[in-house]
Amino acid sequence: MIPEWLERYEAQRPKGKKLYELARATVAGGVGHDVRHSVPFPLYIDHALGAHKWDVDGNELIDYGMGNGALLLGHAPAAVIAAIQVAIEKGFHFGNDHEAQIEWAAQIQALIPSAERVRFVNSGSEGSMLAARVARAFTKKSKLLRFEGHFSGWSDAVIKGAAYPFQQSASAGILPAVLDSIVVIPADLNVLEETLRKDTDIAALMLEPSGGSWGTVPLSVDFNREVRRLTAQYGVLLIYDEVITGFRYSSGGYQVLAGITPDMSILGKIISGGMPGGALVGRADIMKLFDFTGDPQRDRYERIQHYGTFNANPLSTVAGMVTLREAATGRPQAQADQIATKLREGMNRILDAERIAGYAYGDSSVFHVYLERHPGTGAATREEIMTGDPVKLKGIPGNVVSGFQKNLQIRGADLLSYTGGVTSAAHTDEDVQRTLTIFNETICVLAEAGIVARLA
Ligand SMILES: Cc1ncc(COP(=O)(O)O)c(C=O)c1O
Repeated sequence: MIPEWLERYEAQRPKGKKLYELARATVAGGVGHDVRHSVPFPLYIDHALGAHKWDVDGNELIDYGMGNGALLLGHAPAAVIAAIQVAIEKGFHFGNDHEAQIEWAAQIQALIPSAERVRFVNSGSEGSMLAARVARAFTKKSKLLRFEGHFSGWSDAVIKGAAYPFQQSASAGILPAVLDSIVVIPADLNVLEETLRKDTDIAALMLEPSGGSWGTVPLSVDFNREVRRLTAQYGVLLIYDEVITGFRYSSGGYQVLAGITPDMSILGKIISGGMPGGALVGRADIMKLFDFTGDPQRDRYERIQHYGTFNANPLSTVAGMVTLREAATGRPQAQADQIATKLREGMNRILDAERIAGYAYGDSSVFHVYLERHPGTGAATREEIMTGDPVKLKGIPGNVVSGFQKNLQIRGADLLSYTGGVTSAAHTDEDVQRTLTIFNETICVLAEAGIVARLA
């Protein structure tokens, strides 16, 4: 039997339904990004402004996806549009370097402590694959260490460990030799130390400092401090994936908030103001590997080769510069953070009042909702979540995730992925109030349907 909320979703979206029929015959997999896949069909957005977006059928949604986390200032900020308009008139793609790229790099250097040098790429995934290459070249060691459940983009170089079962490849089509070069362990300091002690061929540990899958499985600052100490002790490079946290957790990302400086960092999303972009940044002595020395032997065999038609293209550059200028003030993060705090607190009040076994959590401008499916079990506490098991926190059953997302969507709110979202400087208290009403209705419908558990 089709749940009532799926019927309502379809009834609200006749044009969306037709578009999906066309997409299935044209777009491989029916969608442009796996996270957009959705039963019975994905959202098709027509336009967006501030904290809201409108689909092709005219349905308005309060958006907590925010361009996969790229839009700290909200959708279509006037200053970013103005900068793009000026840049576009001057010719929008040179395939040459230009002055603004240097200014953009200097802004990033000033904000991010690990950014002694900046190399631009086109996405977070490009940044993480480049980071893996640089780490191997610098250390002359071959393996990459990853924590279970951490995601750093879709490339062969890093994707192992992102999905349960964590020791299996997260995608078909990756060479066994590549998989063998990625060591995946639980985020446990004893296991980390033992691994670093025993395996002397590890070039780097790459992690999301806020925790696996943008903090779905959180990590504490103390844990990160120990990770910094151990990687330094064992001569292993520490690479922070700050694709989500960069410029969001603070103007200098997670590293400034925690006072921990990794050896390299991967930046994406907010860095280019919602246009395609990213960067690998790092210590000057490591990033020297990009330098042309004039020594043919060294430049041919020891240099990092790196290309990219659209690297630091003028439009991404100016969108990024305007956004980072604003991010440097700390104002957008403060607004986004207080909205997310109100959402998390409000959701927990509702879960308590409705006696639903669940917990809203997250740091900075991020929220996640853990929902328990087994009737009679207690809601996870914040302590349990913070020391959380990735299998449990990333393993909320598909019908719970889908029921949660779809019930929010039919009432006018959309998440980033799974059961979580991000806020922006454009979200208001009015958005919070509306979202909490929608959230309350959603969890009651799911409890009635027996999809989420009421406390005994
Ligand atoms: C933590 C993290 N790292 C890397 C990536 C990959 O970035 P991109 O989608 O720009 O390739 C993502 C994307 O969501 C991410 O969340």
